[in-house]
Amino acid sequence: MDGLAVLRDLAAIMLHTDVYVPRLCGAHEKTNGDEGDHDDSGESAHGALCVPGQITSTTLCSPADAEALSPLTLNSRPAHVACVDVSLLDLRRATLDEILPLRHAELRAGLPVESARFDGDDDPTTRHYGAFLPASGENVCCVSCMRAPREGADAWQVRGMATRGDLVRRGIGHALLSFAVAALRAEDGPRLLWCNARTTALGFWQHEGWTVASEVFDIPGVGPHRVMQRAL
Ligand SMILES: CC(C)(COP(=O)(O)OP(=O)(O)OC[C@H]1O[C@@H](n2cnc3c(N)ncnc32)[C@H](O)[C@@H]1OP(=O)(O)O)[C@@H](O)C(=O)NCCC(=O)NCCS
Repeated sequence: MDGLAVLRDLAAIMLHTDVYVPRLCGAHEKTNGDEGDHDDSGESAHGALCVPGQITSTTLCSPADAEALSPLTLNSRPAHVACVDVSLLDLRRATLDEILPLRHAELRAGLPVESARFDGDDDPTTRHYGAFLPASGENVCCVSCMRAPREGADAWQVRGMATRGDLVRRGIGHALLSFAVAALRAEDGPRLLWCNARTTALGFWQHEGWTVASEVFDIPGVGPHRVMQRAL
């Protein structure tokens, strides 16, 4: 993948209808290095005082500025970006090979790549979905859906949901999960979805209309989880 394509993709993904780019904050502003809370204003929020020149949020500016500043987005993790035009993303069924590197990087970081392979990944009934950047084709979000019963009922287990770390909280996860749910709904299959959700991600699943269906339990090496589910 060439560097220009990467920059084009990053600029595109940061954009809304117009051009959004990282804003360099002033000494009086505060930054939020935490992914948790956010401020819907898109302005920098709580946390430590920022250093002048540090990227904290986004603002509207000219395309020329966007081009000049877009490399800065490579290392930025804005607390919250007000809008992203997810219609620029290529949402589609994917192969395991296309999504495995992202699944490994975001869900099994530091472990052997084999640890990111799940039983059932290669089953003919399993569906993998990915969000891909338009120019470079890079995979930035992934999810897999496998036939696995839930309390005796035929169901889809949703697994391996992850957005690339520097692109979270821009609506990409919502876009891909919605795509996957719509695709499963169009199939003549089970009408129940469930997953083992990391407790750190419960807010995402609740946002998507899922409800808690278990107490907290531990998955060794991964951490605390709850079963979440929703009707398809
Ligand atoms: C969970 C994850 C997949 C969500 O993907 P995403 O692209 O960031 O999700 P979206 O931007 O579409 O989020 C949609 C909404 O879900 C909610 N949400 C998302 N992540 C959240 C979090 N960590 N905590 C609380 N709410 C969250 C928010 O309401 C968000 O809307 P907002 O940003 O406008 O408030 C992503 O954060 C991720 O990959 N996390 C690390 C891996 C992981 O935990 N995967 C899930 C395993 S069960």
